[in-house]
Amino acid sequence: MLQNVAEARPASSDIRHYLAEQEQKSMLRFLTCGSVDDGKSTLIGRLLYDTKLIFDDQLATLERDSKKHGTTGDEIDFALLVDGLEAEREQGITIDVAYRFFSTPKRKFIVADAPGHEQYTRNMATGASTADLAIVLVDARKGVLPQTRRHSFIASLLGIRHILLAVNKIDLVDHDQSVFDGIVADYRAFATDLGFASIVPIPVSARYGENVVTRSDGTAWYRGPTMIEHLETVKVDEDKAQRPFRFPVQYVNRPHLDFRGFAGTIASGTVRQGDEVVIAKSGKTSRVSRIVTAGGDLAVAREGQAVTLVLEDEVEVARGNILVAPDARPQVADQFAANLIWFDEHALIPGRSYLLRTEADQVGATVTELKYRTNINNFSHEAAKSLEMNEVGVCNISVQSPLVFDKFADDRTTGAFVLIDRITNTTVGAGMILHPLRRAANIHWQALDVNKSARADLKHQKPAVLWFTGLSGSGKSTIANLLEKKLHASGRHTYILDGDNVRHGLNRDLGFTEEDRVENIRRVAEVARLMADAGLIVLVSFISPFRAERRMARELMSDGEFVEVFVDTPFEECARRDPKGLYARALKGEIANFTGVDSPYEAPENADVHLETAGRAPEEMADELEAWLRQRGYC
Ligand code: ADX
Repeated sequence: MLQNVAEARPASSDIRHYLAEQEQKSMLRFLTCGSVDDGKSTLIGRLLYDTKLIFDDQLATLERDSKKHGTTGDEIDFALLVDGLEAEREQGITIDVAYRFFSTPKRKFIVADAPGHEQYTRNMATGASTADLAIVLVDARKGVLPQTRRHSFIASLLGIRHILLAVNKIDLVDHDQSVFDGIVADYRAFATDLGFASIVPIPVSARYGENVVTRSDGTAWYRGPTMIEHLETVKVDEDKAQRPFRFPVQYVNRPHLDFRGFAGTIASGTVRQGDEVVIAKSGKTSRVSRIVTAGGDLAVAREGQAVTLVLEDEVEVARGNILVAPDARPQVADQFAANLIWFDEHALIPGRSYLLRTEADQVGATVTELKYRTNINNFSHEAAKSLEMNEVGVCNISVQSPLVFDKFADDRTTGAFVLIDRITNTTVGAGMILHPLRRAANIHWQALDVNKSARADLKHQKPAVLWFTGLSGSGKSTIANLLEKKLHASGRHTYILDGDNVRHGLNRDLGFTEEDRVENIRRVAEVARLMADAGLIVLVSFISPFRAERRMARELMSDGEFVEVFVDTPFEECARRDPKGLYARALKGEIANFTGVDSPYEAPENADVHLETAGRAPEEMADELEAWLRQRGYC
C-alpha cells in the first residue's frame, strides 16, 4: 500500500513538475479548514497513518514526540505528524501553509494545511488557490460556528466546488445520529447559497480513526463512504479538459539569436504543435512551431505543464501577455469588477495605488469603488468605505495598462490576482475577477494638436509640480506663497493648490480619515497633472502624510516633472507655533485623526529637496528653491 510520502513547502513550479511526472493517476488537491481546536492536524495525521503512508522511522519519532509534546497521554498524538515544526508544536498551532503529497493505489493527493489563527484567511487563500475540494471540520460538540461559515464562504469564493463536511469527535457525542443530522442540516441550510457542486457529510473521530480510513462500529447508522473512499472517488476535474487554451507568458527565453521561446505553465487547455494561437493583448495570430521542455520537444502539452513555446512568426510577445486559443479569447480591459479578500492589518483604501499581480503580469492598480462588503455570517451586502483584515467585498478596480484575464468562474488561474503593498511589498489581498467594466472601453484618449510642450514653450518654461509635504503648521504654504511671488515676478506662469483652499471647494466632501486623505491627494494629484499639462508650474501644498499617495502623484506626472519638497519641521515646533489653534485642540482630544497626534505622518525618505526649517527664515528657503529650479532649467 505504501506508495509515496513526501513533505515539503514547494514552489508552485515544483508541484507542477510533480503533476507532470505522475500524469497517469488522477490527482486530488484538497484543503483542510477548521480552527486550532477542531482537530485538523490530527485528522491529516490519522489519514496518513491509517493509509500506512508513514515510514517506520517516522513512526518511532512520532511515538517519542507524542510522549514529549503530545496532548493525548500515552497514545500517539497524530497532530504531531503534521505540525512538523518545533516552534509550531510549542505554540500549539501551525504557522504556515504546508503542502503534503501522498498517494494511494487509486489516486494522488496534495493536501494544503492552512492553520487556523489570525492570518488564517491569507493562508487559506494561498492553500486554496488550486484546491479541488475542502474538508470543512466541525466539532460535533460545537456544531456549525461562525468560522465554519467563514471558511466555507471563502472556499466558495476561491473556486472550490466540493465540500467534505467532517463532523469530528463523534465519539464525544456518543455517536449520536441526531447530533450528526442536526449539524448536517445546519450546514446545508446556509451552504446552498454558496453553490457547491457536492457536499458530503461524514461522521468521524480523527483521534480514534473512525470513518477516516476504517469504518466505525460506533456509527452503524451511517451508510456513506469513509473519508478516504470519498477522497479517492470524488469526481472533480469533469470540465478541465474542455477549457480553452491559456498560456500566461512568464518570460521570453532568448539564449541566442536563433532561438526565441515563450516560457510559462499552461494554465488551462491543451496545445499541439501546429496549433494556431492568438497573442491576447495585440490580437495577432501565429502558430506553435515547437513545444520545448527540458526532456525534449513534445507534440502536445496540457494544463499544468511547464513548457517553452516557439512560434512561427516574429511576433511581439512580452512577459504579461497570454497566448490563447483563437476561438475563445479572454478579456482585455483596464477596468473590471472583482471579489476581493483582504489579508492585511492595514485596511484596504480605495484610491490608493497597489501593485496588481496575475500569473504573468504586474501593473499598478487602484480600487476605484468599493461596492459593498459581504457580511460573512449571513452573506448580506453592507456599505463600507474600506475592508479590514479578513473582510471580503466586491469592488471595481482600475489598472494602469490593460490586463488580459478571464472571469474567475471560467478560469481560476487567469481570473485571479493578488494586490501587493507598494511600500512594504507584502501581499495584502487576493482577487477573483467577476467581469470587465465596459464604461472605459469606449473612451479613448483624445489627441490634441496644441500639446503640453507647445503650451509650455509659449510661457518659456518647463512644467513642474512642486509637491510640498510636511506637518500642519510646518510652513509649507508660507514657503510656497513666497516662491510663487518670486516666480510670478520673473514672468513665470504658476498656480498654488493649497489644502485648506481646495478643501473648501473640490474636496469639500472629504474629512481626515485615512480613506478621505487618500482621496484628497488623488484628486489633487489629478488636478496638478492637468495644470502641468497646461504648461504651468504648480505648487501643491498639502500635508499628504502617506508615502503611497506621494509616490502615486509622482507616477502620474511625466519624468522629471514631480519635485518632492519636504518641509521638515518637528512636531513640537509645529505644535508650539500652532497658527490655527488646531494642535491645542487636537492634543485635548477635540479633533480626531490629527496628523502627528493620532494620525501618522510618513516622512519622505528621498525628497528631491529637504528643507530643515529650524532656525531658517522662509524667504531664505524660497530663495533656495528658486535657485534649485533655475539650476535644473525649470525656469
Ligand atoms: S491631507 O492630510 O489630506 O493632505 P490637507 O493638507 O488637505 O491634509 O489639510 C490639512 C489642513 O487641514 C491642516 O493644515 C489644518 O489646517 C486642517 N486640519 C483640520 N483637521 C485636521 C486634521 N485632523 N489633521 C490635519 N489637518 C487638519
